[in-house]
Amino acid sequence: MTNRQRVLSGIQPTADSFHLGNYLGAVRNWVPLQDSHDAFYCVVDLHAITNPHDPAALRRRTRVAAAQLLAAGLDPDRCALFVQSHVPQHAELAWVMECITGFGEASRMTQFKDRTARYGSDKVGVGVFTYPILQAADILLYQANVVPIGEDQRQHIELTRDLAQRFNSRFGDTFVIPDALIVKETAKIVDLADPAAKMSKSSESQAGVIDILEEPAAITKKIKRAVTDTGTEVRFDPAKQPGVSNLLTIQSTLSGRQIEELVTSYAGKGYGDLKSEVAAVVVDYLTPLRERTQKWLSDEAGLDEVLATGAARAREVAGATLAAAYDAVGFLPARR
Ligand code: TYM
Repeated sequence: MTNRQRVLSGIQPTADSFHLGNYLGAVRNWVPLQDSHDAFYCVVDLHAITNPHDPAALRRRTRVAAAQLLAAGLDPDRCALFVQSHVPQHAELAWVMECITGFGEASRMTQFKDRTARYGSDKVGVGVFTYPILQAADILLYQANVVPIGEDQRQHIELTRDLAQRFNSRFGDTFVIPDALIVKETAKIVDLADPAAKMSKSSESQAGVIDILEEPAAITKKIKRAVTDTGTEVRFDPAKQPGVSNLLTIQSTLSGRQIEELVTSYAGKGYGDLKSEVAAVVVDYLTPLRERTQKWLSDEAGLDEVLATGAARAREVAGATLAAAYDAVGFLPARR
């Protein structure tokens, strides 16, 4: 039990629902790791304020995020599910890690570069700049061995590894060096309306973004309008047919059927058939998930209790790591 490897991952409460990319690329893979690993999963509300936000919406979305994670199969008896701001060690370790991060190193992070290119540096907060360092602290505090994420987070795990190695070599072995766990097939679910782009909550148009809490009729409409590729045959070829391949990936993952088997079943059929079947599979899969989420949301006290228990467990582990890191850098122990 105690010598199991650790897993940690996090998700931002920045929307009223996760989208299918979050679910397939990350959350879905968190569930089985509860059985093989000592698991810590967190709703990263500190990260969620790096862009302008509304406090009431953040409070609501933090609970909605936790409810969706429970509905997706996280089990409070098998993992610690908690809210990042309930564990003060995240912000505390982030400061220490910022002090060993190069300015240029942080400037090279894609998210920061994209935002400053788009809005100008005066419109982007320092929190966006230090965001990946806080993420490193999230991971290192739990001595996580694996971090299950989608492709877009790979760079942040690379930085986390670099910072952990740097800290360990300057101040003595303190942190486990984590590995990213990226499941290739679902690492980048693309936007249904723009298959060149990843599915993202920050896309200007939400026409190609399927929210997991969305109503069945809306989901079906979006899938029926999905951009497919030139040609008529249903083939799996992500480079040449990204739209069709994305739909096949979604269908395969949610139905448990192999891609090849699906492709064979579409022989002689067209994109219309593909879209109808994918829509039916997605709706069938998401309907009970939405209902379970609503059930958790109708029991706010129960939900808050789960988060309180998760935070208490997280603070135990995070507190021990932070104490070791503070000691390693030479902070005088605080007398209590
Ligand atoms: P976030 O909240 O943007 O996304 C949560 C997870 O969903 C994955 N994801 C996708 N996977 C496949 N296809 C897509 N289109 C897609 N879109 C999103 C993301 O890769 C992610 O795994 N910085 C993180 C949150 C974070 C974190 C952490 C993650 C904070 N601290 C510590 C791991 C460990 C983020 O913004 O994820």
